[in-house]
Amino acid sequence: MKAITVTPRTPNSLRLQDVPVPVPGKREVLLRVLRIGICGTDRDIISGFYGEAPAGSDYLILGHESLCRIEKLGPGVRGLKIGDLVVPTVRRSCPENCVSCRNHQSDMCYTGHYFEHGIKGLNGFAAEFAKSDSSYIVKMPESLSELGVLLEPLTIVEKGLLQTYLLQKSRLIWKPERALVLGAGPVGILATALLRLRGLEVDAVATRSKDSVKATLVESTGASYINSKEMPFSSLDYKYDFVFELTGNASVAVSAQDLIRVNGIVCYLGIYREDQETQNVGKVFTELVLGNKLHFGSVNANITYFQSGAKDLVRIQKKWPKLLSSIITRKGGPDDPQKIYNPESEEEIKSIVEFSGA
Ligand code: BGC
Repeated sequence: MKAITVTPRTPNSLRLQDVPVPVPGKREVLLRVLRIGICGTDRDIISGFYGEAPAGSDYLILGHESLCRIEKLGPGVRGLKIGDLVVPTVRRSCPENCVSCRNHQSDMCYTGHYFEHGIKGLNGFAAEFAKSDSSYIVKMPESLSELGVLLEPLTIVEKGLLQTYLLQKSRLIWKPERALVLGAGPVGILATALLRLRGLEVDAVATRSKDSVKATLVESTGASYINSKEMPFSSLDYKYDFVFELTGNASVAVSAQDLIRVNGIVCYLGIYREDQETQNVGKVFTELVLGNKLHFGSVNANITYFQSGAKDLVRIQKKWPKLLSSIITRKGGPDDPQKIYNPESEEEIKSIVEFSGA
């Protein structure tokens, strides 16, 4: 079968490769991949910064954002049938089966020895077929047979948002009104929609102009778009109840703390390069203390966020029928991976590789 692969830690080894169709073992399913989404993590793997092949293999099949149909059931699989529209989660338990992993919270793995499809030690979904443990599979409604590929990026903010509410509600009386989203890529736009669904006023900040596709999509949800080139966010006089930091830029991340009001919270979801310049860290800690502020990081998402995310994706689709399809700005086949994995224009938001139409 056709698969998009890399040799991990080898820059620009991206290629289309012919590999064997996987055979589902006990409690595993064989998935026919309909489409996969491309994100920054895939590009980091292609650049050689990240990624690990499965044990004993010299290649890694890419792809962790996917939409599939069940093709075949391995022995002992329950609750799924051939033809079901599904999304597999990304992360799998560590070999030690730590207390988080054995309680369905591999996103909170204690050992760090977890596996991630398409990223760390397990092949991904950028192939005609893939296999997965059946207990990490979420069924999708047929109404999302095109757009369900956006579930995985939504789960990242689904987890960030749920954890934010849990943290805040456990420590104070919290009635958030206004949120700030730093970054308006696919996850930033999905975060904006999710916050608007919850009834919050939202401002989203990015570097594209006010008439860009990103800005238009943000504003179509009733949020406001701020172009940070025209209006530096240090000049924002409003203080937010909470901030989602998605830019991955360390100096933006440090300034996020100035943008929250007393008792506010910042959720960091980016990967920050260590050589980036940062501001005075002492000031940040003092502000944290004097303002009862909370900062936390969040990565990955377990199956519960995929389940709630699938419901939110349906709600988003119902409320803003053009939004999700407009986030997908490019679709292509797998035959020329170099082409589809490299953004063609500044207006590109999410690229999708189509493996099968059905
Ligand atoms: C994925 C997460 C994963 C993280 C780190 C992100 O792109 O969405 O599922 O945990 O990369 O590998």
